[in-house]
Formats: sequence, structure tokens, C-alpha cells
Amino acid sequence: MPLECSTRVLAVTSESPDPAILGEAALVLRRGGLVAFATETVYGLGAVATDSEAVERIFAAKGRPAVNPLIVHVTGIDQAREYAADWPADAEVLARTFWPGPLTVVLPRSDRIPDVVTAGRPTVGLRSPAGAVAQGLIARCGRPLAAPSANRSNALSPTRAEHVLADLGGRVDLILDSGPTAVGLESTVIDLTGDRPRLLRPGPITVAEIVSTLEGRDVLIPAAGESAARPMSPGQMPVHYAPRTPAFRMDCADDLAALPPRGAIAILALGNQPLPAGITAAACVRLESPERAARMLYGELHRLDALRPDAIFVLMPPDRPEWLAVRDRLMRATRPVREWQ
Ligand code: TXA
Ligand code: MG
Repeated sequence: MPLECSTRVLAVTSESPDPAILGEAALVLRRGGLVAFATETVYGLGAVATDSEAVERIFAAKGRPAVNPLIVHVTGIDQAREYAADWPADAEVLARTFWPGPLTVVLPRSDRIPDVVTAGRPTVGLRSPAGAVAQGLIARCGRPLAAPSANRSNALSPTRAEHVLADLGGRVDLILDSGPTAVGLESTVIDLTGDRPRLLRPGPITVAEIVSTLEGRDVLIPAAGESAARPMSPGQMPVHYAPRTPAFRMDCADDLAALPPRGAIAILALGNQPLPAGITAAACVRLESPERAARMLYGELHRLDALRPDAIFVLMPPDRPEWLAVRDRLMRATRPVREWQ
């Protein structure tokens, strides 16, 4: 199939999507097409996971390196077990607690999953997404869906159908527009193939929630430097999820006041440090709580990016556990302010 195609956009409601439209989308998927749809986290670019050619189209549409494996989306535990070669007790407990929801478990894969999905790895990431659109679509397909975030590789993840259309229009057959996503940040990814569960990507389900669900078991959290040096999961790579506008981070509001005035700037402040007086910015956004920041982060970065300022300055939230996932995405979307010139 050629890379370029015409993209249709169909609106559905997030609570009770029209079964006829879901049926049509499932047909597109079963014929090897690509459908972008909302999960509770971000919009995904879906293809039938057992159809290697369709999955190859995902990589082509995104410009995604073939070494970066895709998450396989399932209706729930029963379907997940068909695609994992092993289903350990930790997977059962976590899935019972958090599915459908924003948690991906990495497990040994069954041979029903083609190589292209897992980038040749012996493991597969499985997740049951929440929401009537995602659940309805997978159920109607009768097959799991491989779906990365529906953006070009290294660009910001989409939390609205408009983001998908702007980034992937002409490269996806159908976009189901069900409005903004509820959670806003990509799922937590946890590797269950080793002796101890290992966090590969922080996300909406926190480490504390995972630890308490696993009754106090240790969860390995790779240090930032370690994951950059030895990426297990390309979502851990240092530059990822970035806006097109050069974006710079700082920990302290006083650093903003110290910047020499130059060009049009936009400011994104996380947490509640007050901004210094007398700063002129084309736009200034504050996201105070971790929950709101998770939900709004990509939407606000997309909006600031579209204003085309000369730079976006991000005032980082405190280095505390409740901000782990938001800080992780910001560390990848920005460079240290000392690199601004
Ligand atoms: O919330 C989400 O997870 C969204 C929605 C659409 O479900 N999907 C998403 O997919 O963020 P993507 O492809 O943008 O990120 C998937 C992450 C990547 O960091 C990938 O490397 C990692 O999951 N991953 C997937 N399968 C893996 C595996 N077998 N081993 C290690 N990491 C894996
Ligand atoms: Mg992504």
C-alpha cells in the first residue's frame, strides 16, 4: 500500500460512539488500513497487530525507527493472555487492578505477535486502554491493535484529533475524533520479564501505586542517566516528544528574570513557583497540579508551538514523585536553558 492516502475524519462521542462508525473503522483495520483513535492517554495510530504489512505502514507513516517496539492493545486479561507466552502473578494482579487503564506490561511474547511489532524483541508490551472508543474498536476488530502515539516520530503526542490531522494527515486512512483525551500522558510501562518489575516509562499509574498493589515488592527505577546510556525502551531516549520550537527548561523562576531579552518567547510554568515581575511573553501558561499538568501538557505545548515563538521556556515542577511522569516528558521535550543562545 502507498504511504500517501486520503484521510477521513469521523466524529464519535467518547461515552457512546456510534456502533456503525466503529464497525466502519474496524473494517478499515481488517483490510490492512490505519485508524487513529483516542485512548484515555493519547490518540493512538492503530493497525491490526497480527497483520505485519499493516504494522509496517505504522512505522512508515510515523517515520519511526524499526528498532522501537509498539504496544499491543487488547480488550482485557483474556485477550492479553493469548498474546503473551507467560502470564506471571504480577501481571495478573496489576492488570486486575489497573485495566482497563494507563498501564503497559512488558512480557515474553507469544509467536502470534509478528516480529515487526516488537522490533524483533522476545517481549511484547500489552495494555488494555480505557474508553468506549478504544474498547469498542478492539472488540469489533476481534484482534488486538498495535498502536503507538499518533504523531510523527519524536514529535509531541496528540491529545486531540486536530493534532493527529496536522501531523499525520494524508498518512492515516481514518481518524475517529472523540474530543480531547481524559488523562493526557502516555501509559506507564513496566517490564515484568526480570526478577524484579522494572519501570521503563513513568506515567499516570505511579510507582507508589504499583508497589502497593504488588504488596511492597521492589520496583527497579533506572536512573535518568542509565536509561539514556542504555536505552531499553526508546521512550527513554533523551530527545523525544519534542515541540518544533526550541524549548528550554529551568528549575528556578529567577533564571527567567536573568535571561537577556531576545525575540518572542512563550512560558510554560509547572507547579506554583511565582514568576518574576516584568517579563514580556507572547504567551504564558501555568499548570499547578500534577493531574492537570498531565492532562494539559501536550495540548499546551502544541498550542504554544503553533504560536511560533522564538523559544519556549519551561519552568520545571519540583523533583517529587507526584511529578515524575510530567518531569520525564519535559526532560525529553526541552534542553537545559544554558544551551539557549
Ligand atoms: O498511552 C500509551 O501508551 C499510548 C497509547 C496510544 O496507548 N501509546 C504509546 O505508544 O505511547 P508509543 O509507541 O508512543 O510508546 C510505547 C513505548 C515506547 O517507549 C516503546 O519503546 C515501549 O513503549 N515499548 C513497547 N513495547 C516494548 C517492549 N516489548 N519492550 C520495551 N519497551 C517497549
Ligand atoms: Mg510516542
